[in-house]
Amino acid sequence: MIKELVFVTNNAHKVEEVAHAVGNRFKILSLKDLGFEKEIEETGTTFKENASIKTQRIYQQYNLDCFADDSGLEIAALNGDPGVFSARYAGEHGNHQANIECVLEQMEDITDRKAQFKTVISLIWKGREHWFEGVVTGTIRTEISGNSGFGYDPIFQPDGYPVTFAEMPLSEKNKISHRGKAMAQLITFLQQQ
Ligand code: IMP
Repeated sequence: MIKELVFVTNNAHKVEEVAHAVGNRFKILSLKDLGFEKEIEETGTTFKENASIKTQRIYQQYNLDCFADDSGLEIAALNGDPGVFSARYAGEHGNHQANIECVLEQMEDITDRKAQFKTVISLIWKGREHWFEGVVTGTIRTEISGNSGFGYDPIFQPDGYPVTFAEMPLSEKNKISHRGKAMAQLITFLQQQ
């Protein structure tokens, strides 16, 4: 029997990727498929809290199995910032170039360049919540490099690679990325159901 599972996101590209990865035992529905058009405010102080806020909201209204992800960049020398503010670090939501400039400016005189990307997924499955986490460690470059990807990709160099995320093909980034690792755990869990 095909099971329906809601991905609490408005990003059609993310839905497509997961739908492809879970195969034909699951039908992945998006918020658009549910006709849910409201904004879910991410008021949490951690990725885990924000992921849970999204799944709890949808579960309360629709009583459907669902999952949500929340990610961001954590820089050691900035005490974990931008963290949950990654998308709006420079003020305006989703202005990636301004966010990058803001990080580079703050790190101008800082030699400790250690950073990590983290993703937390909350899954509500048969009324119980489960979490999956993925991390990729690396360093913040002093200048941008590369033009694929999104967000902080042009300044993030993953450990063990001579290039930034923005200089890697997406298929390679997905194998080592925070999101890729968390999604792989989610998919393993679902395949065992
Ligand atoms: P989201 O929770 O996946 O929407 O990620 C929030 C923000 O974190 C994004 O808007 C980006 O600024 C940053 N971010 C998350 N994942 C990545 C990534 O893989 N590359 C670059 N930036 C990312």
